[in-house]
Amino acid sequence: MTTAEKNTMDRIHVNYEDKPCYDIVLTDSFDLLPEELEKIHISEKKICIVSESNVAPLYADTLKKLLQNHCRLVITHVFEAGEKSKNLETVYGIYETLIRHQFDRKDLLLALGGGVVGDITGFAAATYLRGIDFVQIPTTLLSQVDSSIGGKTGVDFQVYKNMVGAFYMPKLVYMNIKTLSSMPEREYLSGMGEIIKHGLIKDAAYFDWILRHQKNILKRDFQTLQEMLYISCQIKRNVVEKDPKERGERALLNFGHTIGHAVEKLKDFTLLHGECVSLGIAAAAALETHKGLLEDEDYEKILSLLKAFHLPVFTQNLDPAEIVETTLHDKKMEAGKIKFVLLNRIGEASICKTLTNEDLLYAATSIIR
Ligand code: GLY
Repeated sequence: MTTAEKNTMDRIHVNYEDKPCYDIVLTDSFDLLPEELEKIHISEKKICIVSESNVAPLYADTLKKLLQNHCRLVITHVFEAGEKSKNLETVYGIYETLIRHQFDRKDLLLALGGGVVGDITGFAAATYLRGIDFVQIPTTLLSQVDSSIGGKTGVDFQVYKNMVGAFYMPKLVYMNIKTLSSMPEREYLSGMGEIIKHGLIKDAAYFDWILRHQKNILKRDFQTLQEMLYISCQIKRNVVEKDPKERGERALLNFGHTIGHAVEKLKDFTLLHGECVSLGIAAAAALETHKGLLEDEDYEKILSLLKAFHLPVFTQNLDPAEIVETTLHDKKMEAGKIKFVLLNRIGEASICKTLTNEDLLYAATSIIR
């Protein structure tokens, strides 16, 4: 990458329905946040920082201090960390706080945290008073490269993941890449599941880049992370711009997620999302190799890159038939047919609606050791 390109790696514009919609800012502190928010005229607004119990103690006060002289009021709403909070009850809690502080339609929510915070806050923003503005401030690798971009918001309902939700665009996605240095190792590495997925479905050169930069990624070197986030966010941006409501191409981002979600559920969320995506990628790649769609050599390359980031490619104590059954209950079905994403090769993927239960069983069995 040339110096000129490096200097522009701090901002990505995102269009929605062919019009400029919001920016993704990639930087190394929270210092530029007031300036970025002033572009959406916060001086007359009340702001509610929504966060969870692990992230709020790290950054909520810093943000509050930074913003309090730039807007009418800043309050914080904190809920308990974890996927178990991703439900309507947590959303009700946010509504109550907003009502208590008389938030109206011109006010603003800031989602400070990982994917769960972003999805819940976005959904609360989409529905409170029929929609108020919100800004994503993702603090985890997974949310920075995936969930904060593209306007998917929502909650789990009963046993169904992401069953209730809305497409609702943020006004800004502000990433302080330095937040990645304080992430627990396992959670940080889990984000690599989505990043490797980006290379696999869209960009073979990026897959090789990740392979070459493993050491610096593991060390969390800032320049390397900025470049990696920049490429991943561009891949995600390009997909969601073309297909914001997931009528076609956006479904490619679900590569590794069909089996991955089933494992996540059957393991009762004891494995992290990115770890389950890694298992889902391994399962899909095994099936492709079995069907002659993917070279053995590429299968080994994929597995070894996942393993380089300590991501699981095999798991224990699961019944493959139960994985298939859970997969069939996943909502990513069309006319009773499962939509499964397969690689044509490293760097290119397509949606397959013709897989049989035997195919799924093969894929599920391949990750049980
Ligand atoms: N996380 C997949 C998507 O945004 O479509």
